[in-house]
Amino acid sequence: MLKTEVLKINKQNPESDKIRYAAEIIKQGGLVVFPTETVYGLGASAFDMDAVRNIFKAKGRPADNPLIVHIADMKDVQLLAKRPPKTAMLLMERFWPGPLTIVLKKRKAVLDIVTAGSDSVAVRMPDNRIALSLIKAAGVPLVAPSANISGKPSPTKARDVLEDLNGRVDLIIDGGITKIGIESTVIDITNTPPTILRPGGITMEDIEFLIGKVGLIAFDISCKGIPSATVALRSGYLKSPGLKYKHYAPHAEVVIVEGGAEDVQEKIKSLADEALKNNKRVGIISFQKNARYKDCIVIFAGSDADAVARRLFSALREMDKKKVDIIISESLIDKGIGLAVSDRLKRAASYNIIDATTIRGIA
Ligand code: TXA
Ligand code: MG
Repeated sequence: MLKTEVLKINKQNPESDKIRYAAEIIKQGGLVVFPTETVYGLGASAFDMDAVRNIFKAKGRPADNPLIVHIADMKDVQLLAKRPPKTAMLLMERFWPGPLTIVLKKRKAVLDIVTAGSDSVAVRMPDNRIALSLIKAAGVPLVAPSANISGKPSPTKARDVLEDLNGRVDLIIDGGITKIGIESTVIDITNTPPTILRPGGITMEDIEFLIGKVGLIAFDISCKGIPSATVALRSGYLKSPGLKYKHYAPHAEVVIVEGGAEDVQEKIKSLADEALKNNKRVGIISFQKNARYKDCIVIFAGSDADAVARRLFSALREMDKKKVDIIISESLIDKGIGLAVSDRLKRAASYNIIDATTIRGIA
């Protein structure tokens, strides 16, 4: 068990002595949690085998799930990847620093443990001053998975991290609440067309506007109806191994109700009543400000996708604290950043989705 220290750092103007202190821990092979614009990351030197191994241990992360390498300077891509194709260069120039992770052919120097044996490496430049100055001060790229216990919702504030990783990391930098709230978009450029392995902070629409049609990896029927997506459901295409594991899961069972607003509210009420009758504590995640659900714990998680992105993971964690048995959630439109938010919600629910649509007059 480590003694975990928490250190507040100013996110606008990171204090250089504090950054140096944190970087020193990294240089000595320690684990430092730091904020990014998406979620908090559990960082270590990408070139320190033992430190990387300790990240997997601290998170309880399966060894076949590779890590993203974070850089602070565009030219450091060269340390990690073979000559990136033009598409990759366009994406970097347009979206870095920012919530886009690019999967590229890796260089030999990149440790196998980082890429889980794959010949490609995921690289991203975060848009957060603390993260950028820490990477620079450490003098090495940092691997950083989300700073949660594997399978739990990603942390959007230092307190979430402490709940999961107290005693498992050396330092947690508290840099306030993260700006975006869900993880980066992961795009694989090693194939044609490029394929989005995980929707995230940069929307598919923005990517397609820049580089043309891209594929979207999909694992089940939940991707039906996505507007411009080429659903790349090639069997066995598990490029992002992380996607196959249970994710973002609170203790409670999660159910999503889809359909028109009125139908959804009716359906949620009837599901809630049933659960209440069975003496269950019912939590409801709503995207409508004044939704009323009697005898339930209701969390309003915002009404537009950006707001929901910021609040979803913390709403799931909040429900755990309130010890609810079942979480019933309204659904989101799979468009823009809504695609990413909806993806996280569906994973949290293990794709337990109920269609509330009733055909009026017949039902
Ligand atoms: O926003 C983010 O990306 C956050 C912050 C901390 O930067 N990080 C993050 O890391 O979400 P993590 O480890 O929780 O998720 C990384 C995702 C996983 O789904 C993993 O499978 C995928 O990226 N990934 C990493 N390396 C890969 C590779 N070489 N090929 C394909 N997928 C990869
Ligand atoms: Mg994660």
